[in-house]
Amino acid sequence: MKIDGSTQLAGVFGSPIAHTASPAMHNAAFTSLKMNWCYIACHVDPANLRAALAGIRDMNFRGVNLTVPHKILALDFVDSVEPEARQLGAVNTIINESGKLRGCNTDGYGFAKALQDDFDLELKGLRILILGAGGAGRALAIQSALAGAAKIIVANRTAGKTDAIAAEVTKTKTGFATTSLDGVGKLLKEVDLLVNATSVGLKDGESLAIPAEAFHKNLAVYDTIYRPAETELLRQAAAAGAKVSNGLSMLLHQGARAFELWTQRTAPVSVMRRALRTAVYGEKK
Ligand code: ATR
Repeated sequence: MKIDGSTQLAGVFGSPIAHTASPAMHNAAFTSLKMNWCYIACHVDPANLRAALAGIRDMNFRGVNLTVPHKILALDFVDSVEPEARQLGAVNTIINESGKLRGCNTDGYGFAKALQDDFDLELKGLRILILGAGGAGRALAIQSALAGAAKIIVANRTAGKTDAIAAEVTKTKTGFATTSLDGVGKLLKEVDLLVNATSVGLKDGESLAIPAEAFHKNLAVYDTIYRPAETELLRQAAAAGAKVSNGLSMLLHQGARAFELWTQRTAPVSVMRRALRTAVYGEKK
């Protein structure tokens, strides 16, 4: 990669940010298409997000991604918010259009595309059980409802946190229910897809203790966690014959869509996937 006076800038803001694989993914894409662009990672404290976003305007960045904890805050700091980002309540991609910042959300697209690619599943008509009602669980539930899922059940440790999701999902035709974490096992036979959107599993061996006999062959299990590659949840589900996949595909597809929004070029998805797998799992290039 050659950086000179004409290099176009993009990047990601987060806190923490040191472990992000997004620069590897985007810079591999720029290199493969011989584009004079560069993608960097910036540690930005939430208290400085407004100033940092003014900075991308002033320094003529073409766009940025936002990760934890900025996705919700950013709604207030952009000039316009795309309807999808408004509905999901989060901005993960900003496009700088001649000094006007447009807030978008490509996470919902990334999730839908990951299910298509990994499981050959469409959200429309799907019965889904989502573990977790934090930022990620909320966005995935609302995205699924907007895409026409038949039914969504949300299980969360803290019961009251599902209210905000219920308020959005019940505006759609999608059926909605909640359950306790203890109740998940006996509901798995009623759903097509189980999604983990909690942070349980980030530490090796940690799990929500769903009874092993509850998993079955007709179930797809998606864990938004991709480090470690196989959480205890995925290990248990795979052992029972369920189809399994992890959140690396969501990371890939949200990134590919952001790339296309900034550059107006078709994202080189297989190059980006390879770069991600090298950065995250140390696989050979
Ligand atoms: P994110 O933006 O990634 O969704 P978050 O908003 O902090 O992060 O949400 C974390 C999710 O993991 C929540 O659903 C949280 O449950 P609570 O709402 O009860 O806090 C869930 N979670 C975290 N640790 C958990 C644990 N040990 N057991 C069960 N759920 C847990």
